[in-house]
Amino acid sequence: MQIQNNSSLKPFNTFGIDVNAKHFVSVQDIDELIKTLQLKEFQDKFILGGGSNMLLTKDIEALVVHLNLKGIEIVSEDESTVLVKAMAGENWHDFVLWCLDQNYGGIENLSLIPGNVGAAPIQNIGAYGVELKDVFYACEALDKTSFEPKQFAKEDCNFDYRNSVFKQDYKGKFIITSVTLKLSKSNHKIKTSYGSIQEELQKMGVVDPSIQDVSKAVIAIRSSKLPDPKDIGNSGSFFKNPIVSKSNYKALIDQFPDMPSYKVSEDDIKIPAGWLIEKVGFKGKRFGEYGVHTKQALVLVNYGNASGSDIFELSKLIQSTIKRIFNINLEAEVNII
Ligand code: EPU
Repeated sequence: MQIQNNSSLKPFNTFGIDVNAKHFVSVQDIDELIKTLQLKEFQDKFILGGGSNMLLTKDIEALVVHLNLKGIEIVSEDESTVLVKAMAGENWHDFVLWCLDQNYGGIENLSLIPGNVGAAPIQNIGAYGVELKDVFYACEALDKTSFEPKQFAKEDCNFDYRNSVFKQDYKGKFIITSVTLKLSKSNHKIKTSYGSIQEELQKMGVVDPSIQDVSKAVIAIRSSKLPDPKDIGNSGSFFKNPIVSKSNYKALIDQFPDMPSYKVSEDDIKIPAGWLIEKVGFKGKRFGEYGVHTKQALVLVNYGNASGSDIFELSKLIQSTIKRIFNINLEAEVNII
């Protein structure tokens, strides 16, 4: 184990924010992780996965522990399904592509989501009509205080829209070390209900799509709307889509008849935050080194040298504007550090 002093975290966060880690270590396996957590000379440890869902606003005084746990294995299989376990440090999209290569179905709609496997359950990643919980079987996590491993079954995780027990009761208590998914080997359930997938497949001239076709369609849609962190720093959707009550929705739609919405339950209606942000004029706005993405208003971007505080201030300005105009509280999806 090699501890580095004064390391830049710029390559380790998709926003590309240049903050300093006073101490930094990359761990390759669980033993090394436990040994690192036990180090007495560093009281505080900061666990870093793919760095795709965080906005770093200051230097990190704690020991930054980069989870570089790798490996994919088949746990068990029968004729129609397979349990696949991936270590937390595997890149999510590379894992999706590996599954598609084996013709394992279930996560093709989640293609091209940035970040690592270990972060996927924390916010129950979702896109194009599929959420991780639809294929999640179990995960293994390490208790940060007792260093004991613990197995979480799907029922233990309280998955909800961009939410799980790891963001609520167990926030900061566990480090997810691997995730096991239950995927299909045949009779794949193709999910094209999200409108733009169907349109994209039509454009591709595909009538009877395979899981690989769905992945290609998702990749094409995402690439056309969402900036690649390699070119423009970003963390995907910065805000969650807000959920409003039926009565609030009625008042809003009277005032804004063109407002899109999705019913999530009898009483709850989800409004696309991207639409709200666009409506108040922030889409594509650039403030020097940072701004709001030109093609998807839900994404805040770093054009190169923005600080985390610049972007945080912009997010607060957007929140207060949305509150003033629509009386809606926009909640950040990204973790502000
Ligand atoms: N819209 C606008 N202007 C915009 C963006 C969106 O008016 O600038 C409206 C449009 O009416 C559009 C609707 O919002 O029809 C929905 O847009 P989109 O399909 O792009 O999805 P989203 O609700 O903005 C969510 C996820 C994305 C995910 C897509 C596709 C959240 C917070 N975001 O975005 O997730 O890729 O659906 O499933 O739920 C992420 O979490 O990082 C992420 C990118």
